[in-house]
Amino acid sequence: MSLHDDRKEYQLDQLDDGAKSLNPIILFEKWLENYRQSGVADATAFALSTVGEDGTPDARIVLLKELSEGSLIFYTHYSSKKGRDLAFHPQAHALFFWREMERQIRISGSVIQVPSEKSDAYFASRPTGSQRGAMASNQSAAVASRSVMEEKFEAQGAIPDEALQRPQLWGGYALRIERIEFWQGRPSRMHDRIAYTLKDHRWEAQRLEP
Ligand SMILES: Cc1cc2nc3c(=O)[nH]c(=O)nc-3n(C[C@H](O)[C@H](O)[C@H](O)COP(=O)(O)O)c2cc1C
Repeated sequence: MSLHDDRKEYQLDQLDDGAKSLNPIILFEKWLENYRQSGVADATAFALSTVGEDGTPDARIVLLKELSEGSLIFYTHYSSKKGRDLAFHPQAHALFFWREMERQIRISGSVIQVPSEKSDAYFASRPTGSQRGAMASNQSAAVASRSVMEEKFEAQGAIPDEALQRPQLWGGYALRIERIEFWQGRPSRMHDRIAYTLKDHRWEAQRLEP
């Protein structure tokens, strides 16, 4: 199988130099809303990269649940692999690829856990099946079989819906946007890239070669 001829021309949109004076958080919100409105599934999914204690990078998809005060909010298990990575090295990278828009967004910054009341509120807003699933899972731990997992899930059935509680080791993280780069595909690989870096509470923008 040869992949050499798998390529396309990008031509849907452009990022003018004028974008350098924009607030990148507002631009991100605009692009996100635009993508969500397009009706694609999992529009808020992004690849979250972390670095483990041994220096090895790791990545997985999570869902963006909120953009709040310049931070990406996502929810997970604090005891998972990503949670352990973040406890050791509280920096992460978020990568969005919006194929239908010929766009890529790269975000990096420091990560903190959100206040427990915020995690409680989001947990309570989830469907009860998702709540039970979170309660039953020791995310990223090895498990003997599917049936062991299912037994743990079914054991949650004894708990009435109104008594479901957020596990202490499940909650939100806030990834503070400290660098964000927008990529818009252009013809002949002359793509537009504008990167914004937060310095002393101000954004510095640079165009980057493709
Ligand atoms: C579309 C999609 C959305 C996902 N959303 C989440 C999420 O919001 N939170 C989460 O913990 N895992 C989510 N996952 C599962 C993660 O990719 C991953 O398998 C899990 O978090 C364990 O990762 P870890 O072992 O690196 O901690 C999602 C996976 C996919 C494919």
